[in-house]
Amino acid sequence: MANIRDVSKLAGVSVATVSRVLNQNGYVHPDTEQKVLKAINELNYIPNFVARSLSNKKTKTIGLIVPDITNPFFPELARAVEDVMKIYGYTVILCNSDEDEEKEKHYFQILKQKYIDGLILATASMPISDMQAFDVPIVVIDRIVSQGIPTVVAKNKEGARLATRLLLKQGCKKVAHLRGPESVINARERCEGYVDVVREKEWFHPNLIIQGNYEIKKAFHETMKLLTEQPDVDGIFAGNDLMAIGAMKAAQQLKIRIPDELAIIGFDGITLGEMIFPELSTVAQPIYDMGAIGARMLIKLIENSPVDKLYQQLDVQFIERGTTRKVCD
Ligand code: RIB
Repeated sequence: MANIRDVSKLAGVSVATVSRVLNQNGYVHPDTEQKVLKAINELNYIPNFVARSLSNKKTKTIGLIVPDITNPFFPELARAVEDVMKIYGYTVILCNSDEDEEKEKHYFQILKQKYIDGLILATASMPISDMQAFDVPIVVIDRIVSQGIPTVVAKNKEGARLATRLLLKQGCKKVAHLRGPESVINARERCEGYVDVVREKEWFHPNLIIQGNYEIKKAFHETMKLLTEQPDVDGIFAGNDLMAIGAMKAAQQLKIRIPDELAIIGFDGITLGEMIFPELSTVAQPIYDMGAIGARMLIKLIENSPVDKLYQQLDVQFIERGTTRKVCD
């Protein structure tokens, strides 16, 4: 990582001049200022203002990087992290990576500069080597990266199996899966869970797996296409609740009755699922617990206290609401 001396060398000016430009105090000739700014840009130099005021002290600040703050799952998770951190006197810096690797790396660097004491990360792309090189404790939540990194995730595959089995039990004959992004591990796990069950029944057909991106809009368009091309699809297991809501909108637009003609199950258990009509049946993850457990684990790591389990897989639970039919056991 470049420092102020590298900038002064490249710009051909003194460190004091670079500092005057950075702090905007004292006169600097405009040409010199341009040279300094160009060098800062080229070196990707990030001034470390915090470092000056610190002499090896803790900042009582942690970073939380989530992939999509517009998905209600992540604010619910962030809320739990914040609640726990507040109890222990920590402040949370929330960063939204937009599922974008570059943005994620950028925030990683920025948080380093801010001397955070620890990091909670829900990532699809961060290389494990970058995490290992980070010199503060990290806890990964929601999306497993490697067994070697402290992790809290839900039982994704089991949840997907449960949802698919329930759709079959309701009498669905042709169950499709609206899957999440290829790059996201829990989307792959949920897809594998679905495939396991339909294969058991020898009903597997690749045409029944449609590609979503964990967002409503794409799910809506893909489901419109699916139900137009294959109108006999009578069950959909969506890889998350937002996609299930997109699928519901498509069915409603096509005048397909939910749940009589088409049963739909989501995954997550976000509060929004209860606010729509019909209310969404879903495989609920313990979202709040996931955030709270991750936060407590991180505090223990920061404070060098023993942690019982560095890898936790939380149970999921089916919540029956209006998008599935009642099943008699
Ligand atoms: O809804 C967003 C999805 O991305 C959730 O299912 C969660 O598990 C995350 O990875």
